[in-house]
Amino acid sequence: VTIMKFNQQLEQLLKTLSQFTDAEGELLKQNVKHSAEKFDPELIKLLLNDPDSKAHFFDEIDTATIFNYRKFIDYIDDKNFLLDSYTKFSNKVGLTISNKHMKQINEVVVSFPFKDCVLEGGQSKDDEKCKEIFFNEVLAKDEINRLLDKKVITNARKYTQDGASDEVDFKRDENGLIKDNLIIKGNNLLALHTLKSNFAGKVKLIYIDPPYNTGNDSFNYNDNFNHSTWLTFMKNRLEVARDLLSEDGVIFVQCDDNEQAYLKVLMDEIFERDNFVNNIIWHKKNVVQNDAKYFNENHDHILVFCKIKTHWKPNLLKRTKEMDARYSNPDNDPKGKWTSVALQAKSGTKDNVYKIEFPNGVEWSPVEGTYPRLNKQSLQLAYDENRLWFGKTGTNIPRLKKYLNEVKKGLISNTIFANESSGSTQQGKEELKKILKQNIFSTPKPENFLQRIIHIATKKGDLVLDYHLGSGTTCAVAHKMGRQYIGIEQMDYIEDIAVKRMQKVIGTTVKKDGELLESLDFDSGGISKSVDWQGGGEFIYFELDKYNQKYIDKLNAIKQGHGTAKTIEQLYDEITKHAFLNYDVESEKLLASKKDFEKLSLANQLEFLFSILNKNQLYKNLAEIDDKDLTVDEKTKHLNNDFYHE
Ligand SMILES: C[S@@+](CC[C@H](N)C(=O)[O-])C[C@H]1O[C@@H](n2cnc3c(N)ncnc32)[C@H](O)[C@@H]1O
Repeated sequence: VTIMKFNQQLEQLLKTLSQFTDAEGELLKQNVKHSAEKFDPELIKLLLNDPDSKAHFFDEIDTATIFNYRKFIDYIDDKNFLLDSYTKFSNKVGLTISNKHMKQINEVVVSFPFKDCVLEGGQSKDDEKCKEIFFNEVLAKDEINRLLDKKVITNARKYTQDGASDEVDFKRDENGLIKDNLIIKGNNLLALHTLKSNFAGKVKLIYIDPPYNTGNDSFNYNDNFNHSTWLTFMKNRLEVARDLLSEDGVIFVQCDDNEQAYLKVLMDEIFERDNFVNNIIWHKKNVVQNDAKYFNENHDHILVFCKIKTHWKPNLLKRTKEMDARYSNPDNDPKGKWTSVALQAKSGTKDNVYKIEFPNGVEWSPVEGTYPRLNKQSLQLAYDENRLWFGKTGTNIPRLKKYLNEVKKGLISNTIFANESSGSTQQGKEELKKILKQNIFSTPKPENFLQRIIHIATKKGDLVLDYHLGSGTTCAVAHKMGRQYIGIEQMDYIEDIAVKRMQKVIGTTVKKDGELLESLDFDSGGISKSVDWQGGGEFIYFELDKYNQKYIDKLNAIKQGHGTAKTIEQLYDEITKHAFLNYDVESEKLLASKKDFEKLSLANQLEFLFSILNKNQLYKNLAEIDDKDLTVDEKTKHLNNDFYHE
């Protein structure tokens, strides 16, 4: 067969599988490539049964026939194969499509499909929306030059008990360090880099609860947001997170079994093995899910790493009332409450065994097979100091007193965080529902779980960072515990969930005829009672100023079904005229080719517009704040001067 003929033949063959075609019957190359990468049996069978394809893409070694998937993918990627309307169109407007493979260019993951799906927690796996195409781009080094530069911040508001105000000044201590609590809306990678100039080496605790990459229904990411992309996504952020940690700082990263082992290895690489502390297990649910296929998975992992392990010292947990209740003072000992332990121990050496007669006439020696806990002299001394207890009668076998005021002031935490002390996922949901009066976030963590971590890792006034803020649990708990905090979240729901929640934590002043009434309306749930939370305090909210991200949001909206053909055509004009396009795209050619664009399938139209947007310019760069195209007003410029201290 000639090449042309084989091309057509292969195209027809691939089109016989419905997952490889779109609604208009066009071949979806990405899906074919994705199947090949996964060695999808259906695809392999299809190719094997076609003699020409078999000859092209399979190697015979002895009696085995081996699929040469690299050859297959290269073939599919080759521009001579399947000059589909998309390829024809993008060639026409001068855009060369990179054939690079994600795995070959794992450098920086910018946009990430989870955000498209997070609110659709309950949707089923085969929901079309999440499967089609995905706006996720892994960028190579040469494409990320300015991506990580400081960004323009905007829309700042200060929240206090009197409400929100857009008069914002950052408070600094004598060393110039910002002392405000911050809630930031924006992509966390860029936000973290933006924080570096103010906060490098200043953060005592980082806690994150990133998407776990489960690929199941409750966390419905796109299939294509695969394992290596997830790791790259984590790596990019953990590297800058490490720069933000103080020398005595510590990071807690939550995940489940899907990525735990890989995340551990990744973190070993970034933080170094010697700085690994523990893998904490959180017993996250109490209910038995008997319909689970293999195991009722009821725990999460929290990997703990220090910046420098020898510099970190965990705080002890408070002793419980039950523990203290084991101490009493039946003999009115002036040294206070005590409990007692036996004088003998299970291990020791025969030579140290002795017999003693105390001045009160009681004789003692360890029972056969045990050994004295103290030597004879020390035991004598204990008698003289009234540290031995001979029972109420004064004639029983003596025991050694242990005084309450001599025990460690607290407890070292176990590596297992139990339900009773650290809550459950169910409790997290109930707490959030109580605050917000509705169920609008599927994975909030319980407050006492965060309280435990913040207690172990910080003291009052220390800085806590969470760059996967979600419903804002970390900030709410840090606020109630008197810690300074920074929270980052990119989704629009930040305002309806995290910011609302924080406003409730602070509460509002209830005034009558201008007079402050005694009662303040603040959040009394979660850990409020245990820390005697009375409301008050403040925080500053701001956003990273969007540039191309604005258009990506619009593309996402259309992708999710909020839009019409008309909107996509308008968006084509808008992007051509106003967006910051890739250098290889010429806007005149774009404008002249609109008719061809209109002929593409919606999926291809979306993919195309996404691909021409320059990802270096998702948000406005601070260095270009005075550029007229960026249209930054004076008030915002002032805000940026203040924040960056320039
Ligand atoms: C599992 S949730 C965190 C829940 C949180 N611990 C709580 O108690 O509510 C993960 C959050 O990370 C956010 N997220 C994921 N990728 C992000 C990114 N690149 N930038 C900012 N936020 C991101 C998601 O939108 C989601 O809200």
